[in-house]
Amino acid sequence: MGQTKKLNHKINMISNLKIGLFGFGCVGQGLYDVLSKSSGIKADIVKICVKDRTKKRKLPMEYFTYSKNDILYNPEINLVVELIDDADEAFNIVKTAMSEGKSVVTANKKMVANHLAELVELQHKYNVSLLYEASSCGSIPIIRTLEEYYDNELLYSVSGIFNGSSNYILSKIFNENLDYATALKQAQDLGFAESNPLLDVGGFDPKYKLTIIAAHAYGLFIHPDDILNLGIQNLSLADIEYARKNGKKIKLVNTVRKLNDDEITIHTLPTFVAPQQYLYFVENEFNGVIVEAAFSDKQFYLGKGAGGHPTGSAVLSDISAVTYDYKYAYHKSLQDKKVKYSKDVLLEVYVRYSNAEELNLVAFESISEKGTDFVIGTVKLEKLLNNLSALQNSTLFIANTGKNVMQSSSEEKTAEKALN
Ligand SMILES: NC(=O)c1ccc[n+]([C@@H]2O[C@H](COP(=O)([O-])OP(=O)(O)OC[C@H]3O[C@@H](n4cnc5c(N)ncnc54)[C@H](OP(=O)(O)O)[C@@H]3O)[C@@H](O)[C@H]2O)c1
Repeated sequence: MGQTKKLNHKINMISNLKIGLFGFGCVGQGLYDVLSKSSGIKADIVKICVKDRTKKRKLPMEYFTYSKNDILYNPEINLVVELIDDADEAFNIVKTAMSEGKSVVTANKKMVANHLAELVELQHKYNVSLLYEASSCGSIPIIRTLEEYYDNELLYSVSGIFNGSSNYILSKIFNENLDYATALKQAQDLGFAESNPLLDVGGFDPKYKLTIIAAHAYGLFIHPDDILNLGIQNLSLADIEYARKNGKKIKLVNTVRKLNDDEITIHTLPTFVAPQQYLYFVENEFNGVIVEAAFSDKQFYLGKGAGGHPTGSAVLSDISAVTYDYKYAYHKSLQDKKVKYSKDVLLEVYVRYSNAEELNLVAFESISEKGTDFVIGTVKLEKLLNNLSALQNSTLFIANTGKNVMQSSSEEKTAEKALN
């Protein structure tokens, strides 16, 4: 009897969510709009914590506070929704909220990717939900899909375009001949870009999402520092012309794929994409995710990957999931047979240079083509990773040709596979 009473009390509590919201920027305001138009969900925003005391707000000031403790230690609040643009502070907020017994919904991919293993432990320790669908691919429900639908599938790969703002920039450059700076400014004005644009165009933001996806797809908790990410910030007219001449576009593509029964590999790289590939047609702020699996075969998910309302809708879906006490189970990490991350993989890359000395940063295994300012050849993922920070700070533009020449130590033969 006592037990039933307790359970009823718990269910009652979570079906009447009292939300403490951190952040009222692009996504915070998007969530507010989406939540106020959703009649089915029993959730009220009790307080909103923001930072800048000088900013004018769209809601009456009694909604707001500048002190995080007004939310974190408010016993009325049972759900913290964290939507700020400071990953370190977000981690402090999320840890404290969970230790206070509050469930958490967050969109902060950097924070989740950098601390995922610890966050999963805290979730178990305090028996609360920590959901972060909005952290990866905006409105595409990829995390819960991997977690629930593909929980027992043999996944060959999860790949695609996971960053709305760099895809918006690439679309404007390729389709409308806009220059890079104008396209970036437009992405920022439309609220697609992170406060620090290098997070997007440098491939950091998509890498954080890929880290999270890898945990749900393969049960691997890889630290983002251990994953290769090269971006589009050095893209030049010469690269665009080279792509056009070959009938291709350049997209910033995330890949996590199985090499064999024991190993997967993972990277974020600009990639030449041909018209027969799904990703060729993913434009502007849209994201596209391709899941290839043994039994369900290939599936393609397309949706808006950035912006207040699409991201707010993913946050709303997580809030709704908290009402029925949903928690990620991390099914793949619980399976007996675990895969390992291999960097012993050959990639074929196009490297365009303005300073020939910088080419030494790329330890080519073989070279197949040389132009006046570019080289195409194969390189080991591990060697690129060893020079990651120098490569990121160089003026080189490096792109996967789209022809992955994969070779892992335990593979008997080299397989040549197109991305799609
Ligand atoms: N924008 C997108 O399309 C998108 C998509 C997916 C995920 N996300 C993620 O969603 C999160 C929010 O992004 P956003 O685009 O909404 O950012 P934003 O527009 O820059 O808004 C950030 C908000 O956080 C508040 N804030 C910053 N530091 C704070 C602190 N220490 N305490 C309290 N409030 C603080 C700011 O307060 P003030 O208002 O006082 O400045 C502002 O309201 C980020 O983690 C981002 O990666 C964004």
